[in-house]
Amino acid sequence: MKTQITELFGIEHPIIQGGMHYVGFAELAAAVSNAGGLGIITGLTQPTAEKLAHEIARCKDMTDKPFGVNLTFLPAVTQPDYPGYVRAIIEGGVKIVETAGNNPLPWLTSLKEAGVKVIHKCTSVRHALKAESIGCDAVSVDGFECGGHPGEDDIPNFILLPLAAEALKIPFVASGGMADGRSLVAALAMGASGINMGTRFIATQEAPVHQNVKDAILRASERDTRLVMRPLRNTERVLSNAGVERLLEKERTIGAEITFDDIRDEVAGVYPKVMLQGDMDAGAWSCGLVAGLIHDVPTVKELVDRVMKEANTLIRDRLATMAA
Ligand SMILES: Cc1cc2nc3c(=O)[nH]c(=O)nc-3n(C[C@H](O)[C@H](O)[C@H](O)COP(=O)(O)O)c2cc1C
Repeated sequence: MKTQITELFGIEHPIIQGGMHYVGFAELAAAVSNAGGLGIITGLTQPTAEKLAHEIARCKDMTDKPFGVNLTFLPAVTQPDYPGYVRAIIEGGVKIVETAGNNPLPWLTSLKEAGVKVIHKCTSVRHALKAESIGCDAVSVDGFECGGHPGEDDIPNFILLPLAAEALKIPFVASGGMADGRSLVAALAMGASGINMGTRFIATQEAPVHQNVKDAILRASERDTRLVMRPLRNTERVLSNAGVERLLEKERTIGAEITFDDIRDEVAGVYPKVMLQGDMDAGAWSCGLVAGLIHDVPTVKELVDRVMKEANTLIRDRLATMAA
């Protein structure tokens, strides 16, 4: 399938694997790129710029297809070494960066001078327009369904995507709630040029996370995610568990006065415990409503091929025959 996104990134299928903390290691990124999509290494999961350079080199050993690196700009007590990470990306020859969180403007000039294409992840049309105006090549429009940080506007993709299509000139992909060929066709119908999947890619053979994480996603229904940290205006959609219920109880009892220190135990340092050790009650980890649509753990190639086959069949055998 050819879209503006496949052309922009030089990939076969319009499917991107979004950056995911402690999931987006070289193994997953390479598997997605080898399957014809765009795999993305999560920059900040690597503790130093040197480690990121090493992860990029490992990914290059596993694929000769294009892959990207995610750079997330979120409020942090100690600022990560962003200049070092950007250097590792450029020197590592990576040509695609997915930015998320704060405005990526401070890093755009050096990335663009190095020939890097930038896709910025946004949860609102106004942020997407801002990304377009500062020179991003594409945006990933993340609806309220998404795992991770859906922002504070709570606009689901059935509204957000057509609005993005009305407003944007640069291509965009639909992110949040994307699981299969039906998602891809719907996203294309609403003006997107592809899809970005997070949660769906965790439940694959190659995702280098503990089996307990995949089992939890398989067990989860569409009613099992929760929104945490809303009082801090840092809302995150996570899978419900004992740690999350503790956190929500604190939010209820402390109310508007709550600070990050009050919930540190349930949110800080949780990812390695969950993703690597399989300690499923350690605290809050991102998961999308799409968990309800995930019923198996295929290989990445099986998943990508299935999405494409289903999408092409839907277009040819269902939609084309309906057209008057
Ligand atoms: C476990 C997990 C970790 C994530 N970590 C990040 C991250 O570090 N940076 C980022 O930009 N997005 C992150 N995301 C968001 C994904 O890249 C993607 O936008 C989102 O999962 C799309 O929604 P979906 O889960 O419904 O597919 C994460 C998502 C999940 C599920």
